[in-house]
Amino acid sequence: MNILGISCYYHDAAAALLHDGELVAAAEEERFTRVKHDFSFPKAAIQFCLESAGIKGSDLDYVAFFEKPFRKFDRILMTTLQTYPRSWKVFRESMITWMIDKLWVGAKISAELGIPKDRVLFCEHHLSHAASGFLCSPFEEAAILTVDGVGEWVTGTWGVGRDNGIDLRKQMVFPHSLGLLYSAFTAFLGFEVNEGEYKVMGMAPYGRPRYVDKVWKLIRLSSDGSFSLDMDYFCFHHSADKMFNRRFVKLFGEPRPPKMLFFTAESGFPSYFGEAPSNYAELCTRNQHYADIAASIQRVTEDVLLAMARHIHKETGLKRLCIAGGVGLNSVANNRILRETSFEELFIQPSAGDGGGALGAALWADNVLLGNPRRFRMEHAYWGKSYPLSEIRGFLDENRISYQHIKSEERLLDLVVDRLQQGKVIGWFQDRFEWGPRALGNRSILADPRNPQMKDIVNTKIKFREPYRPFAPSVLAECAESYFDLPNAARHHPARYMLYVVPVRPCKQSALPAITHVDGTGRLQTVFRESNPRYYNLIERFAQATGVPAVLNTSFNLKGEPIVNTPANAFNTFSRSEMDTLVLGDFVIEK
Ligand SMILES: [Fe+2]
Repeated sequence: MNILGISCYYHDAAAALLHDGELVAAAEEERFTRVKHDFSFPKAAIQFCLESAGIKGSDLDYVAFFEKPFRKFDRILMTTLQTYPRSWKVFRESMITWMIDKLWVGAKISAELGIPKDRVLFCEHHLSHAASGFLCSPFEEAAILTVDGVGEWVTGTWGVGRDNGIDLRKQMVFPHSLGLLYSAFTAFLGFEVNEGEYKVMGMAPYGRPRYVDKVWKLIRLSSDGSFSLDMDYFCFHHSADKMFNRRFVKLFGEPRPPKMLFFTAESGFPSYFGEAPSNYAELCTRNQHYADIAASIQRVTEDVLLAMARHIHKETGLKRLCIAGGVGLNSVANNRILRETSFEELFIQPSAGDGGGALGAALWADNVLLGNPRRFRMEHAYWGKSYPLSEIRGFLDENRISYQHIKSEERLLDLVVDRLQQGKVIGWFQDRFEWGPRALGNRSILADPRNPQMKDIVNTKIKFREPYRPFAPSVLAECAESYFDLPNAARHHPARYMLYVVPVRPCKQSALPAITHVDGTGRLQTVFRESNPRYYNLIERFAQATGVPAVLNTSFNLKGEPIVNTPANAFNTFSRSEMDTLVLGDFVIEK
């Protein structure tokens, strides 16, 4: 039986295909179209999934869509009418897009894939999230928490998953949304909503949570972890482009200009920014204020999530928790839930946001609706497209790019380890690309984590990013615990997907300066031989040469672009940057 899951028309569009209950392929549309956060109908991702299984659209038994369009339209209609005439612009725009496209997604799916309309199923948005979190987890039974901006009406749920069933017991509804609260601050801090949230999380450690009291003026928390927002401070319920209003600005001051460079007295002025401005001290003070606001909203978000998790634990008595929804990507909060609640183990799959809804909808159709037993456990994130060596060689030859073909893996890895030790920056491309927003060793840029200059080197050569975006370490799973404060590190699935930020052990921070954030933490990825042998072997050889079983891993893309997909994307990115060496499978290209 073939079931395709689709998510689109909101945040990240994606497709995921199950064959007899096992995941065959899953990918976000942006990787193919090269449009960051592409939310259009995921034609290319669907095509890739079908090709991976060797089937046509008409061979699909069911297609499951990740939300219910009519219910969502109902929310948009109701909220815009309630806030009319302030909402006239949203009302006009949404009538156009919904009437043309979004409402008729069932007909579109049926026409595009050549399947009867009654084979197109619709799963509720948060049920898709819940299914994506629980049904592919290793747990027979677990509590479930979903939190995001908004689905149809719902903004958060909790419940219990047992065998192939999901029982969602409580929900919160729009406009009371933790995701939208965080997004309002994302916008206030000068970042793009649905894109810059992780920058707020990275900026928070530069600040102190001095404005927590002010943030609590916006939100009232109940003892069961539910909350309500004071809508007098927001306008996301009636505006298409503004999240907060003048009252919010009166409380927190003027928003941070999007183009303002970020640095504080603690970060110093990064060398790759060029020469320090004459008003450096004044700008440090202004940025410090914004960092303090980031720290405050991050703290409140964590505290709300902790309250929710504690309540769910009290109600269910379960030891395991699955988290999904965009807020599940807040890897600082995730680790606090693990450390500070009675849950002993969490599961979060790598595409925890809306893209992951495609996988959730397909699993829901298979396990919940059709009642099939759960057959798939997610052990790794490598569900994207791969390119055979013949295709890579064809691309290199056709474009007259000179390369070395190193057939021996040992020799190839030795060469890469040598380059890393020389302070070189490596583009590393192999096998299938990753599912979800993180590069996990198949479309990565690698560097030496021991080098204190390496943050600046990578930024100067490639990323040009600000200090609030730390670089992450990939570490051999069995060594992770000795470097990071995460007991039984190998047991924790979220650490495979960089979904925990944990303290770097103080005695190891000087060994890993390039991946230790300003507050002494790191967003680690545990690497297992079984799920990625070549990447594991590379880190193991690096450890043999240097004594450190970790490399710096950042996503293989330039600022503002999606992570590379094809060999051509990788070479193109390599050429436009100052990366030193590119490894495409067995082929090595040097600058
Ligand atoms: Fe969502």
